Parts: sequence; C-alpha cells; structure tokens
Amino acid sequence: EKGTYDHFMLKEIDEQPFVIRRIIQEYEKDGNLHIDPEIIADVKEADRLYIIAAGTSYHAGLIGKQLIENIAGIPVEVHISSEFIYNTPIISKKPLFIFISQSGETADSRAVLVKIKKLGYKSLTITNVEGSTLSREANHTLLIHAGPEIAVASTKAYTAQIAVLSILAYMVNEDNEIDLHHELSLVATVIETLCDRKELMEELARKFLSETRNCFYIGRHIDYYVALEAALKLKEISYIQTEGFAAGELKHGTIALIEKGTPVIAVISQEDINLNTRSNVKEVRSRGANTLVIALDSICAGTDQVVIDDVHPLLTPLVTIVPIQLIAYYAALHRELDIDKPRNLAKSVTVE
Ligand code: F6R
Repeated sequence: EKGTYDHFMLKEIDEQPFVIRRIIQEYEKDGNLHIDPEIIADVKEADRLYIIAAGTSYHAGLIGKQLIENIAGIPVEVHISSEFIYNTPIISKKPLFIFISQSGETADSRAVLVKIKKLGYKSLTITNVEGSTLSREANHTLLIHAGPEIAVASTKAYTAQIAVLSILAYMVNEDNEIDLHHELSLVATVIETLCDRKELMEELARKFLSETRNCFYIGRHIDYYVALEAALKLKEISYIQTEGFAAGELKHGTIALIEKGTPVIAVISQEDINLNTRSNVKEVRSRGANTLVIALDSICAGTDQVVIDDVHPLLTPLVTIVPIQLIAYYAALHRELDIDKPRNLAKSVTVE
C-alpha cells in the first residue's frame, strides 16, 4: 500500500500533517482538548516523571521533558531503557513512569516496566499500537494515532509522540496561556509547506551528503535534542557516520574532526540560542566545514538554506525535523540503499 510512493518512508513523512490533525481530533471533546482525567490526576500527583524509551522514542522523550517542565512545571528525567535497567537512579517519593514506544513491544523498555511494577510504581504508555505489550501492562495508555508505520526509520511516530506529549503537558496545567489547538493546527500547515519543498531537500542532500563519509548535526537547547534525532535518521538509512552534537560543546574537543568539506548542519529555532549557534557555525566554516543552516523565519539570516515558517517556540521540533527527515531520505536514495529496510535493523526490537 505504498500507493504512488517508491518508499514507505517518504509516504510516512508526507502523512505527518494528516497525523497531527488526527491527533487533535482524537484528543478533542466538546471543542476542547481532552485527556482521561485519571491520567491527568496521576501525572499531577507525581513529584517527578520518568520517561523511559529507546532510539527515536527516547529522542521524542527529550522533547517531552522540555514540554512538560515548561508547560506543566513537573520535573522530568528521560532515560534510555537499556541503561535504566542497570544504572537505576535514586527514585523520587511519588514517581510516575512514562513509556514511549511506537511498537509497544521494545524488550528493553518492557524490562523497565516489569521492574518498576515490582517496585509498586504507576505507569503510562504512549504508543502507536493499541493492545501492545507495553500498553497492556501499564496502568494507562495514550495512543499516538499515527497509523501503521512500516519504514524501519521512524518519522511520523516521532512527531506524533511529541504532539501527544504536548497535549499531556497542556492538560496538566489548565492555567497555561497557550492555545494548543491553534498551535498544533499551525504546525500541521507548516509541515505541509515543508513537504512541498522536496526538490530543495533533494538538492541539499546531493550538495552536502553525496560524497561524504561523515556529518555533524549541531544545535543548542531543544535544537540539540533534534540534532540527536537528525543524526540517528541520517546514519540509520544512509550509513553516513553522523553525530548529533551540542553546538557549544564542539570546541571542547570534537571540533578536531572538522576538515575541509565536512558537512555540518545546524538547527536554529530559538531566539536565545540564535547568535551563539551561529558563531559555532562560523567557527566550523572557518575550518573548512560545508555548513547548512535550518532556521525559523523570525531568526533566519539571508544565507540560511532552509527557512521554516514560525511556530510556537516549544513546538519547533515538530517542524525542524521534517526537512531533516527528507534530507536523510534523499541521501539514502542517492546512494541507492534499501531505505525502508536498512541493514542490521528490525522494526521492533524484541531482545534485550
Ligand atoms: C529509529 C527507530 C528506533 C526505534 C526504537 C524504539 O528510526 O525507529 O530507534 O525508535 O527501536 O522503538 P519503539 O518506539 O517501538 O519502542
């Protein structure tokens, strides 16, 4: 059911505006956003939330931390499932565990769920698959309504997870001043305009990534978390060794890897980090890097190659990731790789 598409990945990237609109609908009741009051009560009662996930879902969790701490004011820790199980932190008095998993079957995450249940803690699973193991075994479930995701590289599940996390954060603090319904609708429209710019993304992939063996994505603050997901997306399907790096941290060692022609792609979505990230871009460019900037309109510079219409500052990952997904897709396409089924990977990882 790829329809007119050559690959599921591109189809699923294109579905993102539709998925965001479906999430708004699914979480709407009498014209307002709505989440089961029992879930909201459990979140409000918690003194700390522990987000547990792997891979792309872990990266969505990092954005979720920003959303929940900023909108709902509850402290959040985000942990890689396979690490948490051994390197368990000191847990707060009233924790709530949030498992983020597209498939709901990831063994590493399930191992943590089994462990925290034994300790008597409550849990919520955010998943794409109703009736999945993590959904059945947790106290609560929130569905992300992304529809089946077939390509191994996760795209629409990432944005759907973030959208649902934003609704959760919003519902926990009814006094917030965001019109989230409106802001998410705007996000859907902006993603649509980005999906209409495939020729530009293909050209950028050709120009920056066709010859290279390595690549850096850099950003600060929320853009750093997007850089982590960006690097995973590019490396898993194009096999280009890619690092997502905190822009300000490069000069503390890693900048030694920059040589003539190294692609460095910067994500710039926040006003407070704009100038500092730009000075990091300058630093690497003066050492020969091929720099590409993805920025939001209100803070862009004339030379930025990808300029994205503004959205709410906490929701920028939902839009900045889209050109990144497309660039990864075209980089892999130009290398004639098996985009939907990259080597060594499976869609759901059921071993620890
Ligand atoms: C990357 C990717 C993986 C998954 C990870 C967790 O594109 O898809 O990193 O995100 O294996 O899977 P779920 O979300 O099913 O628990």
